[in-house]
Parts: sequence; structure tokens; C-alpha cells
Amino acid sequence: MTGREYNGLLESPCYQRGEMSCVSCHSMHKSDPDDQLAHGMRGNQACLQCHVEMAADITRHTRHAADSPGSNCTNCHMPHTSYGLLKAIRGHTIETPDVATTLATGRPNACNLCHLDKTLDWTAEQLADRTGQAKPTVPGEHRTTAASALWLLKGDAGQRALAAWHMGWQPALAASGSGWQSPLLAELLNDPYSAVRYMAHKALARQPGFGEFEYDFVADEPARLAKREAALAKWKPPTGDVPGNPAGVLLSADGLRLTNRVQRLIQTRDNRPMRLRE
Ligand code: HEC
Ligand code: HEC
Ligand code: HEC
Ligand code: HEC
Repeated sequence: MTGREYNGLLESPCYQRGEMSCVSCHSMHKSDPDDQLAHGMRGNQACLQCHVEMAADITRHTRHAADSPGSNCTNCHMPHTSYGLLKAIRGHTIETPDVATTLATGRPNACNLCHLDKTLDWTAEQLADRTGQAKPTVPGEHRTTAASALWLLKGDAGQRALAAWHMGWQPALAASGSGWQSPLLAELLNDPYSAVRYMAHKALARQPGFGEFEYDFVADEPARLAKREAALAKWKPPTGDVPGNPAGVLLSADGLRLTNRVQRLIQTRDNRPMRLRE
């Protein structure tokens, strides 16, 4: 454990104004091997034990069907925005999805981590509609291009890692479809960071047709470039499952790759050094 969970919790309203602690959700004895969530606390019960007034009608608050992953409290309020050992882990500060915060900090918001095919502008509009507050001004590229694609191709190493991981996350594939992510993930098979390459390959293996695609994330650069080529050659334009806004995920209306746009985004990648643990 890194202690980040503890610091995160200290910043949560549920702790500052309530009595939430680690044992509100975790148990030190009834251990689940990995995360030690207490019995019954894997679902919304962890939150509803205090936020009792919401239990009667969850959909009214979440605006997703009760059995949708979009109705799981932690998916919106504790998204996987921290980086752990070769994976994304849940942040432990309880927060609400907010586009202004994403723009100010660069930290991805829960909506765009599940709705991978949507722009930040789409989320801003959804949230403004919901809260009745003014929609923040969103920079040009975030009006045209899916947030996940921008984080993946030109984000810093942390953003690339989170975007890559979410492209293999089942709830996100349920919300965004699959297939269109493969050529973007192929580009990350030659990412400068081995941890990012590792996660990109894991996500790629969840995409249709790539289950058996072999790749060595510590191979040398010529070998990685060859794998990138192989993945791009293997990919087939989506047939049925074309996203509603193909340009937003860097495809043409016919489902072909917008190669020049992709390369231009990679050229503006944020190469600031970061420490990603492997
Ligand atoms: C409101 C509920 C809640 C509280 C409070 C909470 N956690 Fe968690 N924690 C979770 C959930 C949900 C997960 C993710 C479980 C999963 O997705 O399998 C998690 C995961 C973790 C993980 C595993 C991270 C990983 O995926 O490798 C650690 C470590 C952890 N919590 C530590 C803590 C500590 C320490 C505290 C107190 C400072 C704390 N948690 C408080 C809900 C909570
Ligand atoms: C131990 C009790 C407790 C638990 C468990 C708990 N909360 Fe809270 N939460 C509170 C209290 C108390 C407040 C402050 C309410 C207030 O000030 O009106 C709060 C506030 C909030 C807020 C409001 C944020 C704001 O800025 O006003 C959100 C969002 C929230 N909780 C979500 C959650 C979610 C999601 C979970 C589960 C992952 C959760 N809470 C678990 C007690 C808890
Ligand atoms: C689809 C995303 C989503 C899910 C799932 C979700 N919330 Fe929220 N929640 C939001 C947003 C957005 C806000 C801030 C805007 C607002 O208040 O409507 C919010 C605000 C809140 C607040 C503070 C304002 C209020 O209405 O009291 C609390 C408390 C809260 N959520 C608790 C929960 C709990 C408990 C769950 C699980 C039953 C949950 N949320 C599930 C998106 C979500
Ligand atoms: C954990 C994944 C997840 C999160 C987080 C999530 N959604 Fe969804 N959302 C889905 C899924 C899956 C669907 C498809 C229908 C369903 O299951 O409810 C969906 C459907 C929708 C729809 C209707 C269909 C569409 O694509 O236009 C809207 C609007 C929507 N979500 C908005 C949001 C907003 C706004 C947020 C953030 C506050 C959010 N969602 C967070 C998973 C998620």
C-alpha cells in the first residue's frame, strides 16, 4: 500500500464532514485476496450505508439503468485515476465528475473514462444540463476529438497509462463499443514507457481479433515498431459497430484511419518525464 489511499480519504467530504474511514468499506479480516473489501461493500452499499436517502431510487441520481455500470457509485465518484503496479487503481478522494477540474488538473473524469468515444465537450454539456450551471469553455480539440484519444496519443505518461488501461476495461467497452480502439492502441506499442506499452497491449488483447496477439513490452525498438505495423495490418475497419462520431475517434466516415491526424497528435505528445512504477 502506498499511503495515497489514506491521503485521498482525508480530502473526501465523507471524511471531513462525516465519519468515513477505511473500514467503512474494507475489512482487515474477511479478506478478499486483493483489495480486502468488506462483505457486501463491493457494490453501492459502501456508499448507501451513509447516503441512505439515495437508496430508494438510484436511477434518478445516476441517470443510468439500475443494473448499468453507470449506476455504480464508485465508477463515478472513485474512478480509476491513480496509477498502481502496471494498472489503474481507484482514486480514494470522493469527488464528482467535473470538466473544469479535468481541464485545470489534467486528471481524467469518470464520464470520459467510460464513454471513451465522447469528447470532453459532450461531458460538459451533459453535466451543465444536469446541474443547471454554465458550461465551462472547452478548448477546440476537446470539442472535436474524444478525450480518451487525446489522453492516449498526446497526454503525459500518466494520462496515456490511464487511457490505455480503460480501453480494456469492460464497463468502458460496454459504453463505447470496441474495435475502433485497436489502431490507437497499436501506436502505443512503441510508447517510450514500458509500463504504458504493457497496458496498451493488455487492452489491445481485449479487442476483437486481438486475443492471441503476442507482444513483448521490453523488446527493443525495432521489434516494437514491427509489432505496431503488424497490429495495424491486422486491424479491420469496423463494420456494424462504427461510433456515432467517427472523426472523434480518428476514423473517417468509412471507418478508415485518419493517419495524418493521429501522427500529428503523437508529435505533440507531452514527453515530460514521469515515474511510472513497474
Ligand atoms: C467508500 C469506500 C472505500 C473507502 C472508505 C476506502 N476504500 Fe479502498 N477501495 C475501495 C474500492 C471500491 C476499491 C476497489 C476495489 C475493486 O475495484 O476491486 C478499493 C481499493 C483499495 C486498494 C487496492 C488498490 C488496488 O486496486 O490495487 C487499497 C490498497 C485500498 N483500497 C486502501 C484503502 C485505505 C488504506 C483506505 C482508508 C484510508 C480505504 N481504502 C478506504 C473503496 C473504499
Ligand atoms: C461514513 C459515512 C459516509 C460514507 C461511507 C460515504 N459518505 Fe459521502 N458523505 C458523507 C457525509 C457526512 C457527507 C457530507 C454531507 C454534507 O455536508 O451535507 C458526504 C458527502 C458526499 C458527497 C458530496 C460532495 C460535496 O462536495 O458536497 C459526495 C459526492 C459523496 N459523499 C459521495 C459518496 C460516495 C460515492 C460514497 C461511496 C463510495 C460515499 N459518499 C460514502 C458520509 C459518507
Ligand atoms: C453516472 C455518474 C454518477 C453515479 C453512478 C453516481 N453519481 Fe453521485 N453525482 C454525480 C454527479 C455528476 C454529481 C454532481 C452533480 C449533481 O449533484 O447532480 C453527483 C453528486 C453526488 C452527491 C452530492 C450532491 C447530492 O445530490 O447530494 C452525492 C452525495 C452523491 N453524488 C452520491 C452518490 C451515491 C451514493 C451514488 C451511488 C448510489 C452515486 N452518487 C452515483 C454522478 C454520479
Ligand atoms: C462505468 C461506466 C460508466 C460511467 C462512469 C458513465 N457511464 Fe454513461 N453509460 C454507460 C453505459 C454502459 C451506457 C449504455 C446504457 C446503459 O448501460 O445504461 C451509458 C449510457 C449513457 C447515456 C445514454 C446513451 C449515450 O451514449 O448517449 C448518457 C447520456 C450517459 N451515459 C452519460 C453519462 C455521463 C454524463 C456520465 C458521467 C456523469 C456517465 N455517463 C458515466 C456507462 C457509464
